Amino acid sequence: MFRAAATMFSVTPTASLCRGVLFSIRHYCKRTPTKLRVSQAFSGTELGANVKVQGWVRSIRSQKSNLFLHLNDGSSLQSLQVVASPELNDPSLTFGSAVEVTGVLKKSPHRNQPVELEADQIHVVGECNPVDFPFKTKERHSLEYIRQFPHLRCRTNAFSSLLRVRSEATTAIHSYFKENGFVQIHTPVITSNDCEGAGELFQVEPSSAEVEEGENFFSVPAYLTVSGQLHLEVMSGAFSRVYTFGPTFRAENSQSRRHLAEFHMVEAEVSFTESLEDLTKVMEDMFRSATEHVLAHCAEDVDLFHKHVTPGHRNAVDFMLKERFPVITYSEAIDILNRSSQKFAFPTHWGCDLQTEHEKYLVKHCGNIPVFVTDYPYDLKPFYARDNKDHPRHSAAAVDLLVPGVGELCGGSLREERLDLLRARLEEVGLEDTYSWYLDLRRFGSVPHGGFGLGFERYLQCILGVDSIKDVIPFPRFSHSCPL
Ligand code: 4AD
Repeated sequence: MFRAAATMFSVTPTASLCRGVLFSIRHYCKRTPTKLRVSQAFSGTELGANVKVQGWVRSIRSQKSNLFLHLNDGSSLQSLQVVASPELNDPSLTFGSAVEVTGVLKKSPHRNQPVELEADQIHVVGECNPVDFPFKTKERHSLEYIRQFPHLRCRTNAFSSLLRVRSEATTAIHSYFKENGFVQIHTPVITSNDCEGAGELFQVEPSSAEVEEGENFFSVPAYLTVSGQLHLEVMSGAFSRVYTFGPTFRAENSQSRRHLAEFHMVEAEVSFTESLEDLTKVMEDMFRSATEHVLAHCAEDVDLFHKHVTPGHRNAVDFMLKERFPVITYSEAIDILNRSSQKFAFPTHWGCDLQTEHEKYLVKHCGNIPVFVTDYPYDLKPFYARDNKDHPRHSAAAVDLLVPGVGELCGGSLREERLDLLRARLEEVGLEDTYSWYLDLRRFGSVPHGGFGLGFERYLQCILGVDSIKDVIPFPRFSHSCPL
């Protein structure tokens, strides 16, 4: 009895303690503002709530009765308008400064913004001297101008839009592959092969004297990868669909508007292929699906480019997506170029490499839409490209996708899966020993397969209409330039 009473007794204070805790949590919640990102504020679900928003001041306007700020935290192109009493103004509150604002989120009386933050506190977290800061409020700086400040350009509207588009396009590409049954492979950054055989390699050795003079850290010369293709080919002996998406390096001494020393490549490899069409279908579907995703999920950011940086480009992108991409052979491409009245700087004849000027002409000729060019001269292609065994114009089953404004976006081929032909070609170029492991792939359960690589920065140039590849990558690396 006593025990029971004691037990019952002990219950009551616990319950009342709980009520007390609940009360104080509610009380605390009421007083502690909810942290909100700018994009969340625009969703309208927190109207009337006491919130804290942190970000950087994109504009500041002081009136007699009100102080107006625009606050951006990178979550959206739109900045959140903050309305405050002029007493909250402070000399350290300037364009570019980092701030923390608490207040109540209200429906805005202005038509062009759904909500505004009525501030009761503004705390400057990081000051920014507006005289020294290279960007000025309300000024639209050119991409060339902001490129001079690689450590600061993410604070401009244009570059933050670019970075959001880049992030969304990355997601879209991964989603395409996931939805289509591809397995992602993390191919190595350091490798001992020169996949493309073009010799555009950066060698990797420790900077300190960790190894004896004349020796290599890995015991063999090692390089930064120029392509993950050969590692994907290893995997395509066990997985019928694989892809990789990562940094790629080429020691090209080029300052062109479409070449970088470090860029990102999307590469896919498909097993049991029957023809080049198996590859062109993946290339085209991936291009369409990623572009439609970006246009739908990043509309404001894409619009900024299509309206202010490259006016009219949206029509060009919509036009690209209208029809299936045409396919022409390399021989047809040469005929088209030879019939053209345009004078090219580089001569055109069967066997020549297509230059950017030729690629652009072909795209225009086909109606300013992406175009596949297939069956390139055998001698122009690396050892892995499948021999078409044709005569007298000896070609390989290779394909490039050329796109408006950029030229070559993707390069791919069917791979030589026939052991005798592959061995003969490797012998011809003296690489039979180096690639004995590659020959093994043809010895054990070899299947017809093929793949391609897409230059991710060139893809962004194509959909946004950006002229220089240096403006679509966070930190461009090219010959004679590697700041920070
Ligand atoms: O045509 P590429 O050299 O093809 C390969 O590397 C193949 N092994 C890929 C494969 O089959 N898995 O390069 C593919 C694409 C090019 O079409 C181009 O868009 C881009 O990569 N690219 C560059 N992008 C920026 N800067 C550079 N220096 C580039 N070199 C190639």
